[in-house]
Amino acid sequence: PRKIAINTGGGDAPGLNAVIRAATLAAVGRGWEMWGVRHGYRGLLDPAEGGLVRLDQERVRGITYLGGTILGTANRGDPFKFPTKAPGEQVAVPVDRSEDLVRRFQEEGLEALIAAGGDGSMRIANALVKRGLPRVIGVPKTIDNDVLGTDMTFGFDTAVGIATESIDRLHSTAEAHERVMVVEVMGRNAGWIALHAGLSATADAILLPEIPYRYEAVAEKILQREAQGRSFSIVVVAEGACPAGGDVTIKEVGDAFRGVAVLGGVAERVAVELSLRTGKEARSMVLGHLQRGGGPSTSDRLLALRFGAAAVRFLEQGQGSGMVALRNGRIELIPLDEVTAGIKTVPLDSDTVITARDMGICFGDEPP
Ligand code: F6P
Repeated sequence: PRKIAINTGGGDAPGLNAVIRAATLAAVGRGWEMWGVRHGYRGLLDPAEGGLVRLDQERVRGITYLGGTILGTANRGDPFKFPTKAPGEQVAVPVDRSEDLVRRFQEEGLEALIAAGGDGSMRIANALVKRGLPRVIGVPKTIDNDVLGTDMTFGFDTAVGIATESIDRLHSTAEAHERVMVVEVMGRNAGWIALHAGLSATADAILLPEIPYRYEAVAEKILQREAQGRSFSIVVVAEGACPAGGDVTIKEVGDAFRGVAVLGGVAERVAVELSLRTGKEARSMVLGHLQRGGGPSTSDRLLALRFGAAAVRFLEQGQGSGMVALRNGRIELIPLDEVTAGIKTVPLDSDTVITARDMGICFGDEPP
């Protein structure tokens, strides 16, 4: 029988298990064997990481609604920079193990890989194909919704739902105490979660990585509200948002310490700056990994199931490597080169941004 593999890499997103289930059932139903690689690519490169697991109907039963990934993931599992300890050494150093990986694939008799991941995983998949991996079908996953070429990634709808509900809950306590509440949501490079949740949950200001902001403009908005008798304000800030004129962004710090440190703090900084400029009491909070934890929304389940089954259909049709993508309601296979050209940021002329501006929501770029 044809033997194919599936892995999940990078930060987890609700819906990964739905992809695994749909792809497995679609493959097994065609008489193929499906193998799960543990922890990204680590399972194939590091014998201590659990290797490959056979996926069958029984193994994927009842997992559609579960968060996380039954295969485990890896933050530092890039085969081109694989942390490797030389004999007798304590410290692992990055080593290019891509050729080992291609060889391990051949040894296992695997003819294709379904790789569920974000923009980083798609870049790795593309480079592995160029290094000799037979075929890779990428499946776009991330709560950030910032993968190029697809209208949506799974995980995003769930994260927006959690953020919206959390921001909704802040209104009553903000009003009771007449405070400014600053909520930090995820989004290192793109402000999709901040924009969609901020608009849905009636934030007064939304700060995005795409729009450098000025504290004065946000403070002005808060004081305007005060003058109109609304003595509280809600500010939503994406973790990658940055004041005009530069600052060390959480993204830069995050990139330097990826996988090592637990980061936060943009909201705290914004709360202090706004409090100084308005004289109002402010509180900050970081929603963090709550946005990624737990099971997927119905819409993320459906998208993940459709992506997983489509990946197997594209393999059956004999198509080459690519990424499954949602385009105008249809699932298509698009070239990996197209996906890896950059990331999908929020277009500033998008209807959603214009709607927010029409409703008087402040992006921090207006004149004070
Ligand atoms: O890319 C998804 C994401 O959730 C980002 O929004 C966030 O910056 C990052 O992952 C955090 O990941 P981790 O804490 O797992 O390194």
